Formats: sequence, C-alpha cells, structure tokens
Amino acid sequence: MNKKLILLFVLAAWLFASCSQTAKEKKYIIAFSECMGSDSWRQTMLDDMKRELAFHNNVQFIYRDANSNSNMQVRQIEELAKQHIDLLIVSPNEVQPLSDAIQKVYDAGIPVVLVDRRTNSRKYTAFVGAENYEVGQNAGRFAVSVLKGRGNILEVSAQPDASPFIDRHNGFLNIIDGYPDMKYLRKIDGSIVNNKVKQAIQSSGHIDLIFAHNDMMAFDVYNFCKELGIAGKVKIIGIDGLPVKNMGLDMVANKYIAATVLYPTGGREAITTALNILEGNPFKKENQLFTSVIDSSNVMLMKMQGEKLMNQQSDIEQRQKIIDKQILITRNQSTAIIIIALTLSLALIFGGLSFYYLNENKKISRRLALQNNEISEQKNQLIEISAKAEAAHVAKLNFFTNISHEFRTPLTLILSPLEDLVLSPKVQVSTRQTLQLVHKNVIRLYRLVNQLMDFRKIEFSKMRVRASMNNLVDFIKEIVDSYKVLSQQKNISLNFLTTERRLDVWFDITMIDKVIFNLLSNAFKFTKENGFIYVKIEKTEQDAIVKIEDNGIGMSVESIQHVFEPFFQGEYENYKGTGLGLALSKELIELHHGSISVSSEKWKGTSFEIRLPLNNYQLTEKEKVEVPESPAVITEDARIYTTELIDQVQGSVQEPDSIIEKKYSILIIEDNNDLRKYLKNKLFNFYDIIEAGDANIALEAAFDSTPDLIICDVVIPGKNGLELTKILKEDARSAHIPVILLTARSDEHQKLEGIKTGADAYITKPFNFPFLEQTIFTLLNNREKSKEHYSGEVISGNRSVVAKKTDRKFINDLTLIVENNISNEHFSIEDICSEMKISHVQLYRKVKSLLHCRVTEYIMNARLQKARYYLQHEDLSISEVAFRTGFSSATYFSTAFKSKFTVTPSEFRENGVSQRTGPPDV
Ligand code: FRU
Repeated sequence: MNKKLILLFVLAAWLFASCSQTAKEKKYIIAFSECMGSDSWRQTMLDDMKRELAFHNNVQFIYRDANSNSNMQVRQIEELAKQHIDLLIVSPNEVQPLSDAIQKVYDAGIPVVLVDRRTNSRKYTAFVGAENYEVGQNAGRFAVSVLKGRGNILEVSAQPDASPFIDRHNGFLNIIDGYPDMKYLRKIDGSIVNNKVKQAIQSSGHIDLIFAHNDMMAFDVYNFCKELGIAGKVKIIGIDGLPVKNMGLDMVANKYIAATVLYPTGGREAITTALNILEGNPFKKENQLFTSVIDSSNVMLMKMQGEKLMNQQSDIEQRQKIIDKQILITRNQSTAIIIIALTLSLALIFGGLSFYYLNENKKISRRLALQNNEISEQKNQLIEISAKAEAAHVAKLNFFTNISHEFRTPLTLILSPLEDLVLSPKVQVSTRQTLQLVHKNVIRLYRLVNQLMDFRKIEFSKMRVRASMNNLVDFIKEIVDSYKVLSQQKNISLNFLTTERRLDVWFDITMIDKVIFNLLSNAFKFTKENGFIYVKIEKTEQDAIVKIEDNGIGMSVESIQHVFEPFFQGEYENYKGTGLGLALSKELIELHHGSISVSSEKWKGTSFEIRLPLNNYQLTEKEKVEVPESPAVITEDARIYTTELIDQVQGSVQEPDSIIEKKYSILIIEDNNDLRKYLKNKLFNFYDIIEAGDANIALEAAFDSTPDLIICDVVIPGKNGLELTKILKEDARSAHIPVILLTARSDEHQKLEGIKTGADAYITKPFNFPFLEQTIFTLLNNREKSKEHYSGEVISGNRSVVAKKTDRKFINDLTLIVENNISNEHFSIEDICSEMKISHVQLYRKVKSLLHCRVTEYIMNARLQKARYYLQHEDLSISEVAFRTGFSSATYFSTAFKSKFTVTPSEFRENGVSQRTGPPDV
C-alpha cells in the first residue's frame, strides 16, 4: 500500500510542477536618472524607453527626475546605487557636478549607459545619442547655405556646462569660421524665457540668422522677432525636429523657423543597449544616432514619415495594450490552473489516503468481525460449559444433601445406643475408650450433615428467619457458660464482658445459637493452653454488636479473604474442619440483615464481630414469631458442637496400670491425634509407646529413647515421613531401628519411594490392624535375630533383664561403641567411659548388673563373635581375622578363640558347622 501512496505523491508533484513551469527569466532592475523631465523631447525619450520595456517583462524600471538640479541628480544617483540596481541609464544635467557620481557607480561594478549627454570621464559602459558636434556643424552648413556665405549671426544657447550645448556651439563655429563674411555676433542664454533674449535681439543690430540650440528656444526667438516686426526677415535654425504637434517639424512646415536639425532621443536604443549589457549580449560602447537638417525641402516628407511613425507607434501601443491584457488573462489563467492543479493534487492525495484507510478499515472490520464471531462462539461455549458445570455442581450438592439427609436417621440410631454403651459400668475401660472415639466421630458426622443441610436450605431460600424479641445479653451469656467446663479443661481464660445489662434484639434463637456456638468452638479449637477468649457485647445507635476474640494462632491475609466462603479450608493441617461453619454463620447473620466480619493476625489472634440491627423494620411479618422456638434444639446443637472439643481434651487415653512386662518400645509419629491415640490404645498393652506429633519431636524421641521400632506417617508437619526415615537410617544412633511407613498414599510409585529411603515396611491407609500388628512383630523378631547373629548373644540372652527403656539404651550404646572399635587393639574401658560420659565404676556396675559379666569379658566376647563371623563368611587368613578383630597377634587370637569355642580358628573353619550351631554361652 505504501508504494501506491508514493506513486500518488509523485503524480501530484508532477501536476503541480508542470502547471507552475514558466521560463525562469532573470529579473533586472534598471534605473534611469533624467536631468529634467518636463519638456516634450524628454517625455518622448521616456515614452520610447517604456515602449521598448513593454517587450521585456523581466525588467523593473526605476525613474528619477532631477528637475535641472545637478546636486539633486547626484543625490538621486547615489541613492539608486544603494538599491541594488543592475544598471544605470543617466542623462547628466551638467558635466562637472555629475562626472564623479557617475564614475563611482561604474567603479562599483554597476554598468552605466550615458544617454544624450556626456561626462568628462571615459568610465561608462556605453553611450547612446547623436553627435552634438556634428549637429552644430549641420546647423553651421545650413546657415552658410541659406545666407549664401554672408550675414550676421546670433546664437541662443542654454546650460553652459552641459555637453550638448558645448559641442553644438563648437561644431557650429567650426563651420562658419570658414566663411569670413559670416559674422558671429554673440551667444545669449535662452534657457530662461524672458525679455533678455528680446532685448539682446533688439540691441544686436542687423541680424540675418539666429541659431537656437533647440526648437523650444527657436520658437521663443520666433515670437520675439514677430513682436519686433522682423519675423520672416531673420532666419531661425532650431534643433530636435520632434514630429510632435507644434514642435520642430510643424514649426518648419509653418515657416516659423527655416530649419531644424534632427536630434533623436535615443530612448529605445538606450534600453536595448542596457539589456544587451545585462544579458551578456554583444553591444557597442559608442552608439551614435543619425542626425540631419530638416528644412522646407524635406519637412513634408519628414512629417509624413513622422506621422506614419506616430501611427505605427500608436498601433504598436494599442497592440501592446491588447498583449498586456492577454498576458494578464494568461497570468490569471495560469494562477487559476496552478490553484486547480494544487487542489487536484491535494484531492488526489486525500483521495488516495481515504481509499487506503477505507481499505484498511475494511480489513480491520473484517478481522474484528471474525474475532467477534470467535469471541461469541467462545462465549457460548463458556456459557454452555458453565451451565453444565453449574448443573453438575447442583447435582453434586443435591446428591450430598440427599445422602446427608439419609445419614441423619441411621446416625441418630447409632448415637443413642452408643451413648448408653459409653455410660454403661459393665463396659471395660479399654472398650469404653474405643467407644468414645466412635462417639466423637459420629458427632462429627452428625454436625457435618446438619451444616450441609442448613447450607443447602439457605441456598434454595428455604430457610426462613423465625425471629422473636429476646434479651441478647442473657442468650449469649448462657452459651458462654456452657463452655466453662471446656475452658477449665483446656486451661483457657474465657471471659464475658458486656456494656449493657439487657439488650432486646429481634433474632432467630436457633440460628444465632448456631452462629455463636460455631464461633466459640472455632476460638477454642485455635487457642492454645493458657490462652484467652473474650465474648463482648456492645451497642451502637443502630446495632447490637457481639465480638468473639481470642489470642490463638490467627490467620493469614489470604485466609481472611476467603474465610466466609463455603468449603474453604484454612492453612492449618491439624485444624481442618468441614469448611461450612463460617459460610453458614454468614448466611444466617445476613438473613437477619446483619453483618459478620473478621480481623486476624497470624500467631496473634482472631476477632469476629457480629452486628444485628436493633430494630425489626427489615423483617417481614412472616419472619416474626411471638414465642421463641423450643430451647431443645439449642441443647442438641450445643451438644454437637461442644462434645468434640471436650473429647479432644479428655481424649488422652488413660494408660492402665499394666503389669505386663513390655520388652520393646515403639515410637508412633502421627500428626492426627485420633489416629495416634487409636494406635497407642491398640499397642500400649504390649509395647512401651512414645508419641510424636511432628518431625522435630520425632527425631528427638528417636535419638533420646532409641525405640525398638518406629511407625511413621508420611504426611506430617515439618519434615515428611520419607525425609525423616532417611535421616534416621543414615544416623548410626538410629540406623538399626526398623521403620514402618504409614500413609494414605497407595500407588506403587509412592511405595517404592518409601522403601528406597530405607523404610522396612510400607502400609497404606486404611489399614488392617492385625496386619500392622503382624508386621511389627515380624520386624522386631528379625531385628532380634540379626542382633544375635552379628553382635553376640550377650544382648539377646539378657533381653528380659534389660526391659527398662534406659537400660536398653545403655546396652545399645555400649554395643555400638564396641562394634565400632572391634578392630582397634588399643580400645580400652577408658574409651567407653569417655564416649558414654560415665565413670569407670558406673560402667563396671551397669555391665555387671545388666549383663552379668565384666566389661573386658564383654569386649573379648564381642571380638570373638565377630571373628567367628569372619571365619564363617569371609575368605580371610587367620592373621587377618585376628587383625580385624583387634588381637595384637595371631597366637593370642588362637588361644583366646580356643578357650571360648574349644576349637582353634583353623579347626573351626574346617569343621565349623557343628561348632557354629552350638548354643552360645557367656
Ligand atoms: C531638451 C533638450 C533638447 C536638446 C537636448 C540637449 O531638454 O534641451 O531640446 O536637444 O535637451 O540635451
């Protein structure tokens, strides 16, 4: 598209250029300085110039008239020179005053054309005019001829310092001086018309001829002669011979004067010469014009020629005017064409642009239309998908609601007989504990079912407020009181504060009861021992305010934003609920046209604020009841909400005063309190149970208590079960302890991952308890066997004696230290004491009492057991076995070995089977 635009611009530029294309002629400024401009001869000169200039449009013509004042003419020339003129035409008034000024112009590089008159300098570019000396000679010859060589002559001249008059005078005298009878009387100044000329004529005596330096002065002379009565008697000669009415030619024709000498103005020639100079064409420096005498013999011919010339001139002028008009019209037309071309060019450009943008718009519109279609298709799809999703969601919720509803009856039927059983004195303690666990979970299910159903009722607007006027203070206090026992058991300070003694508010006691119980049970759930919970009642002009504040574990900003959303689960794994309690509370409060808000800070505490309107304006008549609903409902809900919490406190299973001797200890690592307690309950009759709820406690317990077996959940707070197993298996202190991983994950990949960490067994939830029990038994048994096998029978032989936890740890530590130093021949009792951080005596007594032998005996026994193992399993020389088991020599090793096993090491290797299988003794 850009190419098309460029093409358009080029076309427009061409159009514009072709229209404005006129010959680029150079412009010239020609100035003409005229010494005087008022007489006919000068006007004829100016007209000649203008007529010629009419053919040259490129000339700007400046005209200055000095009015016969030489100083003025000098000033005018100087000013013209400053105006950046290209050429000066000048007819200098007088020689002396003007010569310098004209020379300066010439020196400044401006061409100078002298016309009619000269200066005393050669510094000019060209001269145009008749030769005045010749003009004077012509006049002289005519005088001689007309007077036939005899007579008195008077001369009337003007401006003594003007070159024409000087030259004419000289030329005239040059001729008549050749005729002795031609008597030259004198020269009179005739430039000023006054009686002086008349007086001079009168006083000069007999005069035959008067030579006047131009026709105008000749006419004056004729008039004076007429006045003196000598007209016709005196011959008069003039100069100029203008073919203008009453001038030179007419004067001759009318016989006023005898003759006139033709003196052309040179106006046309001055202009053509000037243009030749300016345009660099060839030109002559001296352009002498033709001159001749006009008398009665040729005057008519001259007149006719003159008139013809005049007619031609006027004809030319007429034509010139027409041409000028045409030029003007052409110019106007050119301007119009340029404007039209410009407009056309602009129209073309804008048209092109419009076309381009129209095209682009069309493309964009098409693209947008396509996108619109796509979007609306996507929108429709989304609507369809969301409708399906909504339908699926509704169907799912309906399913849950219906099934929940179905659960209520059997749950109720389970609950009642179960409570009877729990309270029955005939039930054994251990069975009661199991039943309590069942009871707790039935209550939990019951609560979940209730909440779900309430929530669905609200969603379908089937739940209606049945509000009555109640004293909110008493109502809340009653609920708070029901939590007193729990607060004492959990050691949480529960406080009820109110600014009002009584506060009558319209509310549905069943609904608000659920809300307050839910908020209070949450507060207890998230507040630790020694914490506090405040329930406050306040009032503003419009609202009653209930605040429930705790200094529990608080919530993150993220949780605060979603806390009232249905099914939202908070960030604490151990405190996960149904996710419906707060959503339901919010809905219930909003049914009362009230509000509920929360503010919380992580690890600092949480505060819920409920606002209920004090008036009942927004409640409809149907929503108001006179008598409150039966309080039985409250009791039921209260029981459901509080039982679980009380259970949590009471849940720690009482260890029976068992008298069964427990051989082994088991560390149970499980964050779920119920499951941990369940396992403990099931196992504590046969094993010492150590509990851990998170990874850190678990590690501490594993290293400090050295249990015989660990049951570990995979998903626990802190490090997960897999990481924990890896740590335990890589640490010498716990590497020998069998680990059972317990998890809900059931896929094979996860199992493999568990086993890779070094776990000894992997059991998935839900598990079968007898299977777990069997796994524990097998692992412990295997462990026992391997211990006997590698470390010696001392430990196993005394297992029953070392049932005490700390004693078992002592034996484990001792075994490990000895095992680690078995090849060290310098290993001594001091080394054991310093590693176990006990005294020599303590070690001696402990070993004596637990193992019934001396420490040295124990070390020797361990060395020999190891040696026996090497002889049996490794292909080593006797010396090497001795070296690896810390004997300083092979002889010493053989002696010690024989004294214990009654055979030498070599005999043992050869017939080892019978000897090896024999019962070990200490
Ligand atoms: C006009 C005129 C002419 C004459 C010429 C001489 O001003 O006097 O009559 O021929 O000037 O310069």
